[in-house]
Amino acid sequence: MRGATILLSVLVLCATSCHIALSIRDGLLRNGNFELGPKPTEMKGTQVVGRNAIPEWEISGFVEYIKAGQKQGDMLLVVPEGAFAVRLGNEASIKQTFHVMKGMYYSITFSAARTCAQEEKLNISVSPEWGVLPMQTMYSSNGWDSYAWAFKALLSSVELVIHNPGVEEDPACGPLIDSVGIKALNPPRPTNKNIVKNGGFEIGPYIFPNTSWGVLVPPNIEDKHSPLLGWMVESLKAVKLINAPYFSVPQGRQAVELVAGRESAIAQVVRTIAGKTYVLSFAVGDASNSCEGSMIVEAFAGRDTIKVPYQSQGKGGYKRAALRFVAASNRTRIMFYSTFYHMRSDDFSSLCGPVIDDVKLLSVRVRN
Ligand SMILES: *[C@@H]1O[C@H](CO)[C@@H](O)[C@H](O)[C@H]1NC(C)=O
Ligand SMILES: *[C@@H]1O[C@H](CO)[C@@H](O)[C@H](O)[C@H]1NC(C)=O
Ligand SMILES: *[C@@H]1O[C@H](CO)[C@@H](O)[C@H](O)[C@H]1NC(C)=O
Repeated sequence: MRGATILLSVLVLCATSCHIALSIRDGLLRNGNFELGPKPTEMKGTQVVGRNAIPEWEISGFVEYIKAGQKQGDMLLVVPEGAFAVRLGNEASIKQTFHVMKGMYYSITFSAARTCAQEEKLNISVSPEWGVLPMQTMYSSNGWDSYAWAFKALLSSVELVIHNPGVEEDPACGPLIDSVGIKALNPPRPTNKNIVKNGGFEIGPYIFPNTSWGVLVPPNIEDKHSPLLGWMVESLKAVKLINAPYFSVPQGRQAVELVAGRESAIAQVVRTIAGKTYVLSFAVGDASNSCEGSMIVEAFAGRDTIKVPYQSQGKGGYKRAALRFVAASNRTRIMFYSTFYHMRSDDFSSLCGPVIDDVKLLSVRVRN
């Protein structure tokens, strides 16, 4: 009887407070699009005063609350989702705490735009991990890009901090931030049909509904856990994860656009058997984003390589290619990059490039 009473009180306690401990769901963080703003008394012009003035967030430093259509000099500020965003001035930060599953990998996605000419960076961290993502290269035509950054949850409650480490002369210079979201990354299951994991790039970071500019996946020097499960961005610049229906995608819902020439390579190390013959097959195309011209994707499997030319009209389409090779060891590095840089014909400040998708690796029997 006494046991039952204790159990009952635990259940009652749980009903009222345990829900707080549930892990976060995929999607926007609480007030992740900053549509809930400070009270007028907590604003000085556009500057937010008070650590807890923006609901669900804690701020520090010079943080501005920006309304879409607000002017900065002669520039009209655009907000990608809803009507509000925040701007992080020098050394300013925003943070939010939430519950996760210990041991699980998560990817954060946020949209950011540069507002001044200077190079800008954001330090995104979930203790003890952090990454500094540069905002200096623009890939989308409206100035906003979405960035992904992944972490492994070491605790069941984590604190996400987005910090502008900049020290500009003008304290109002600094990136605008909107739409902060999260997605749990479920490890891809191995299959006997493909040795490559996540070959279709279907398991990746959260992509905000109604955003038509994809998500930049940073190189591993900026993020040691890749938001694109199984893959690593091994070069200096990001690759872009693109999604249907906003882009033309060869297979499934998602693909990768190689947006920065040889500076944006994507790789995976797979298990092979030395001496065995394999075929690496993949699709090369364009995203239907006015990225036109003669493109070449270089694919590598260990020491073997193939150059796949693709003539893009910028209107979508793809072709298939295959590289047959004999594995030299029990691990083979698969890698792809674009030989050239490309710019969109409708926007000469936006980098773009060929698309790869549907990467498969199979061992084949050799007939003599
Ligand atoms: C980024 O932020 C983390 C957490 O606040 C900090 O430990 C790290 O030193 C910062 N890195 C840089 C380069 O500012
Ligand atoms: C996406 O856009 C459509 C049409 O503009 C709108 O009805 C829908 O609510 C939007 N969804 C989100 C999540 O913003
Ligand atoms: C195969 O892998 C093992 C470790 O997993 C390593 O010790 C061995 O040297 C490798 N063999 C070859 C031929 O690469």
